Amino acid sequence: MTRIPLIAGNWKMYLTRTEAVALASAVAAATQGLTDREVMIAPPFTALAAVKEAVASSPVKVAAQNVGWEKEGAFTGEVSPPMLLDAGIEMVIIGHSERRHIFGEDNSMINRRLRAALQFALMPILCIGETLAEREAGNTFNVLEEQLTQGLAQITAEQMSNVVVAYEPVWAIGTGKTATDAQAQEVHAFIRELLARSYEKTLADCIRILYGGSVKPENVDSLMARPDIDGVLVGGASLNATTFERIIYFR
Ligand code: 13P
Repeated sequence: MTRIPLIAGNWKMYLTRTEAVALASAVAAATQGLTDREVMIAPPFTALAAVKEAVASSPVKVAAQNVGWEKEGAFTGEVSPPMLLDAGIEMVIIGHSERRHIFGEDNSMINRRLRAALQFALMPILCIGETLAEREAGNTFNVLEEQLTQGLAQITAEQMSNVVVAYEPVWAIGTGKTATDAQAQEVHAFIRELLARSYEKTLADCIRILYGGSVKPENVDSLMARPDIDGVLVGGASLNATTFERIIYFR
């Protein structure tokens, strides 16, 4: 069982193409020759192709922040899996809490996106996470179980080996309020147990589970020291080359 750490930056709705290429080039320069961990960045759609070109000779992987579930068609505002492949993209974030809570995406929609991504060999990062109200009401595990099982409906074991899960508690995103490493570890262990129940323990032991929510240079080391935290999904701190580099080289 080896899980290669994955350090992922979600740039959300930030950066023009010029700014994105400059940041991507800095990340590429910082990761030359890196083999013991993977680095991914997710620029907005408009910058995907340019960023992919900028990191082409580095180990940096480029992800989209969402994906449509059909190959093509009358789906205004959506971008299809083949379109992402055409731009050289290899991964995609699906079910981010901002998609769920601001844009009303539900588990069945998220599942359709996930299945489409896998069908076209894009590696999906499925995001799940509870709100503060859900945590305070003692519903964290129920909510996560529902998001995970519905999000992964019809996903075979073979497909599952290409899925990354990200636990992002909604109350920790962009708030500066990180889950403690103990809180995150507890949830990650729970998620792995659910995966072992739905699939097999050997498979669950190979699946990477990332933590996201106010990850910074100051807390990345203690998060990454936990046994079930296999990487981080970073928002704000991934928009600066120096802070992101420090997170990539967690100790
Ligand atoms: P912040 O790191 O800005 O809290 O964002 C986390 C996130 O949503 C990553 O997907």
